[in-house]
Amino acid sequence: ESYDFGIVGLGVMGRNLLLNMADHKFAVAGLDLDTEKAASLEAEAGPKHQIKATTDAATFVASIRKPRAIMLLVPAGKPVDSAIESLLPHLEEGDILVDGGNSYFPDTERRYTWLSEKNIHFFGMGISGGEKGARFGPSMMPGGDEVAYERLRPIFEAISAKVNGDPCVAYLGSGSAGNYVKMVHNGIEYGIMQLLAEVYDLMKRGAGIADDKIQQTIASWNDTELQSFLVEITGEILKKQDEDGTPLIHRISDWAKSKGTGKWTSQNAMDLQVPVPVIDAAVNMRDISKYKPERIEAAKQLTWDGSSTNTDEDELLTQLKDAFHFAMLITYAQGLAQLTVASQTYQYGLDLETVTKIWRGGCIIRAAALEDFRQAYQRNKQLPNILLDEQIGNTLNQLQSNFRSAITYAVGKGIPVAGLMNALVYFDAYRSAELPTNLIQAQRDFFGAHTYERIDRDGVFHTQWN
Ligand code: 6PG
Repeated sequence: ESYDFGIVGLGVMGRNLLLNMADHKFAVAGLDLDTEKAASLEAEAGPKHQIKATTDAATFVASIRKPRAIMLLVPAGKPVDSAIESLLPHLEEGDILVDGGNSYFPDTERRYTWLSEKNIHFFGMGISGGEKGARFGPSMMPGGDEVAYERLRPIFEAISAKVNGDPCVAYLGSGSAGNYVKMVHNGIEYGIMQLLAEVYDLMKRGAGIADDKIQQTIASWNDTELQSFLVEITGEILKKQDEDGTPLIHRISDWAKSKGTGKWTSQNAMDLQVPVPVIDAAVNMRDISKYKPERIEAAKQLTWDGSSTNTDEDELLTQLKDAFHFAMLITYAQGLAQLTVASQTYQYGLDLETVTKIWRGGCIIRAAALEDFRQAYQRNKQLPNILLDEQIGNTLNQLQSNFRSAITYAVGKGIPVAGLMNALVYFDAYRSAELPTNLIQAQRDFFGAHTYERIDRDGVFHTQWN
């Protein structure tokens, strides 16, 4: 009964988190049914680490100090339920279980209710930053019971990434809040990855710019206000060469896979009636990428000669930088707006200043811009959408002209820029005090007597249209 924390599932994430905790002087225990994984963790531990690993659930649970704090790092879905069931007979009231995987938030709600009945505190916690993050400082998004979080707080704050000394972890809200926030984090991640792929496509296939210049351009963006993890790794990816010196990227198949979090973000946004079109576009483009044989066939039949669309290379690169910047801000705006509505609908009690604060470091969507968003929420806690923040609005207004030019160029060239276009449509719709949806209301009333409201009179109206 002396270990501070236990982890179930000694895959890459689980063992790296344990080693990270041990670096910070916590005594930690690991459980895995695989003897090999358990043994190799102890072998990996340094001389100053207090780590023990076992394959036996009873020994594992008994070794942890009460109230016990145990994190599951097993694949989302059934394995989480199986792991909980294997621990339950050994747990006592007041113990804490944390699911550290990318679980679907309704599953977390179900488990939360199930375990509350047994007086076990259940947390769903998104963890971002991949293997390296887990080992040296992730961003962590816990949701559950606020009082029970105090048992976890010192450990999580010690191992998390830090920005200006502030830990990139904080209690976010009740129930499945942690998994929900991580889901939207991943939706934003999908959006920004798609935008980077689009500007790359415009440079390469659209303008035929040399590989070196593309690489240098994107890498240089990381020294500007665009500084971010995803821009940084894109610069590094484009630098990597295959054995014969060809950029490795040219040899990678364009069939994109996904594990579900991006799709869940879009699906749930539709349920909540929050538009997140850049994220939708990113999911759609991964799906279209899978229709490879059809695309090859279509490429022969459906042709467009975009050769007349030309522009100065350096001017185009400036436009693309601004276009990416603009659309990136819009992507965050959509995800954050979704969190605002979800927090009301599911009563999570999210504070978006806290969310943007813990996203500044450790996670995949960390970026200099997150500090600007944090400040926007600090200025106005009730901000419904960061586009309404004056400073962010001014930035968008400045970037707007180059952004529109980049999209015009893409249209002329026939390059599919679904993310960029959807960012523009969202912006133009959001800033339209009047939309043509009055015509839709009239059509609904015409064929279905669905009624409509008028701008000049109170009440509900129906017209005999013919
Ligand atoms: C992170 C990542 C991580 C994982 C994604 C990949 O924050 O560390 O988001 O959670 O790499 O889930 O998702 P796809 O396989 O769907 O692209």
